Amino acid sequence: MPHGTALPWWVTGVAYQIYPRSFADSDGDGVGDLRGLVAHLDHVADLGADAVWVSPFFRSPMADFGYDVADFRDVDPLFGTLADADDLISRAHELGLRVVFDLVPNHTSSEHPWFRAARSSPRDPHRDWYVWRDPRPDGSPPNNWRAAFADEPAWTLDPASGQYYLHLFLPEQPDLDWNHPSVPAEIAGVMEFWMARGVDGFRCDVIHCIGKDPELPDAPDDLAGLPACLFDHGPGTMEQIRFLRRVVDGAPGERLLLGETYVFDRERIAGYLGDGDGLHLGFDIPALHAPWDAAAWRAEVASALELYPPRGGQPAWVLSNHDVPRHRTRYGTEARARAAAVLLLTVWGTPTVYAGEELGLEDAEVPPDRVVDPGGRDGCRAPLPWRRAAGHGWPAEPWLPFPPDARARSVEAQRDDPASMLEHYRRLLRLRRATPALHRGDLRLLDAPDGVLAYRRTADGADPVEVWINFTEQEVAGARPVGKWLGGTRVGPPEAGSPLGPDEARILSA
Ligand code: GLC
Ligand code: MG
Repeated sequence: MPHGTALPWWVTGVAYQIYPRSFADSDGDGVGDLRGLVAHLDHVADLGADAVWVSPFFRSPMADFGYDVADFRDVDPLFGTLADADDLISRAHELGLRVVFDLVPNHTSSEHPWFRAARSSPRDPHRDWYVWRDPRPDGSPPNNWRAAFADEPAWTLDPASGQYYLHLFLPEQPDLDWNHPSVPAEIAGVMEFWMARGVDGFRCDVIHCIGKDPELPDAPDDLAGLPACLFDHGPGTMEQIRFLRRVVDGAPGERLLLGETYVFDRERIAGYLGDGDGLHLGFDIPALHAPWDAAAWRAEVASALELYPPRGGQPAWVLSNHDVPRHRTRYGTEARARAAAVLLLTVWGTPTVYAGEELGLEDAEVPPDRVVDPGGRDGCRAPLPWRRAAGHGWPAEPWLPFPPDARARSVEAQRDDPASMLEHYRRLLRLRRATPALHRGDLRLLDAPDGVLAYRRTADGADPVEVWINFTEQEVAGARPVGKWLGGTRVGPPEAGSPLGPDEARILSA
């Protein structure tokens, strides 16, 4: 980037993901809603994030809790009204936060008027907006693809017409056929609708799946047992992404096209950035699934350094979201989650914080009679505890149980306690914002003893910064970083030249 050119907000900033069902409830139905969200946006601003990404709140029968959209241009009554969505945008902007909405372009709800029409007759003009195929001669589904969530075919037979329709997810989520020209045109209209209302960008759900090969070939044996959404990254995807990019570029201001690129191949993810004409960012899924291990993370960062810059981009790191167990739960201890926060917020790239990770929330234990998600993801979707007292700021029993230690983990209990996870995140975000090397610097990996990841960040005209992270639970005598202590997992500075303690991360001006 030439000197003096302001970088886009998504290059230097930090996003915060809100799963609206679980954030804050205003009307006492036990489900978080937009008014609740708006009332608690100051929490996000106080934390020091730059943007909020809000998971779907559009009209939906909620078979996949909103990722089955029946009207892309309206708010589900469970969450509020269109006026509430407008309030969300304007309140966020008042607080200096950008607003990113979830766009679900790969499929709709089976209750969407387009699919109702498509199902009504093979001759309906909407029929080919979806993916219909005849059965194989023996009556079985057209190919061997499996759906996500349940180990079932990705095809459901429509008895009336004798044809199958494709659904990479639930039968209630039929896949759109992006090879039909009306589909991209309609989705572009949806994007324009929300951009005109002030939205600063989109997180595009399973974006790698929209460019399907019209031949829909069988999966090879080694993939055949996996959900097809993991390998359905057909040849048309890049062209469709370029199209979506032109839609966001066509609106005034700096609008973000962020992809949920849920594939395990970083080269492919980076490829979706095109030559600066594709996604601005694509979630780095390999790192989301990396273990808490210094060598593993060194390899992830090294590969990211190799693959994103040739595309003019950088990684979009995420440790937790509404689809996987929280990293506090995966990594196993509070101390590791603290060190992981240092990694997430000081490594080169764009981080997204998933609501509740700043509280150190673990996944909830969900008893069998309260399980609601067909995909087994309830634990990481537990409601946020705002207050200490029973109910934790929720006016009624929420749709899922609270996470463990909700009282001690509540925002109220952690606020202003310098030793809390919440204050740890706030300090890190403040430091990141105030330190050019951290929010826009290059990264070079440093030699470090086993179990330690160390890197140096440098930016033109700014002090370099070093970050040292001990991934082990032992002191590392050979790691004695020098320099002025700027922050880390401790609340105050360690003794100068002292070795890195167990699970310790240190940020130094060096
Ligand atoms: C994405 C969403 C997930 C949803 C799926 C189908 O992976 O993050 O929650 O179930 O797409 O829309
Ligand atoms: Mg509610």
